[in-house]
Amino acid sequence: MPEHIPVIAVDGPSGSGKGVVASYLATQYGYHLLDSGALYRLVGLAARKAGIELENNPDQVVLGDIAQSLDVSFTPTNDPENPLAITLNGERVEAEVRTDEAGVDASLVGAVPSVRDGLFELQRSFREAPGLVADGRDMGTVVFPQADVKIFLTASAEARAERRYNQLKHKDIGVSLHDLFQSIQARDERDRTREVSPLRPADDAFVIDSTDMDIEEVLHQVQAIVTEKLG
Ligand code: C5P
Repeated sequence: MPEHIPVIAVDGPSGSGKGVVASYLATQYGYHLLDSGALYRLVGLAARKAGIELENNPDQVVLGDIAQSLDVSFTPTNDPENPLAITLNGERVEAEVRTDEAGVDASLVGAVPSVRDGLFELQRSFREAPGLVADGRDMGTVVFPQADVKIFLTASAEARAERRYNQLKHKDIGVSLHDLFQSIQARDERDRTREVSPLRPADDAFVIDSTDMDIEEVLHQVQAIVTEKLG
């Protein structure tokens, strides 16, 4: 019988704390980590670099081709501030993909069905022994519907905008809290209402609302859930 490779799916909107939770779990269990948002950000970036218009009725075929032939690499670093070195066509791009503009572009391309199809197999290929923690919007619903544990993290848009603001400020990426709040709301709306793979918890997901919790409390709850499921 083929070896069972466990998957922990961590989904939720931007700023819900899922990135921290996912990397914590990956370290804790020694599992691989899929940051699927980075893949959508990279498709957006590759499209911008190729001069492709993303706002109005973007070209499905061209974007699907970009997603399907994405030349990227993710290499862990020893730097906790910048845990993954990311390359696109051999060029280091982690600073560029982490900007708020890249997040907005990611949500534009994420609404295009050919992009979601184009990234499907690439995302599935991250499932390797001893296990995978997959971070995104549709990990538990579409990409890994058989995941062993599904966590859906959420928090109010205000709390998420403030967290994101502090993160970006810490990285010296300048942006106003008001602009960030508006951009998070617009992105949430697009992610929740799109026709393909909308952002929603899987029926069998554990939903954690972290609005009034600090990250230690969230990690504590998540750890309890995963321990019960995986041992
Ligand atoms: O998680 P992150 O903020 O990097 O995601 C950026 C955007 O990429 C999201 O707002 C969403 O539109 C899109 N995305 C997606 N499906 C995923 C991961 C991200 O549509 N699995």
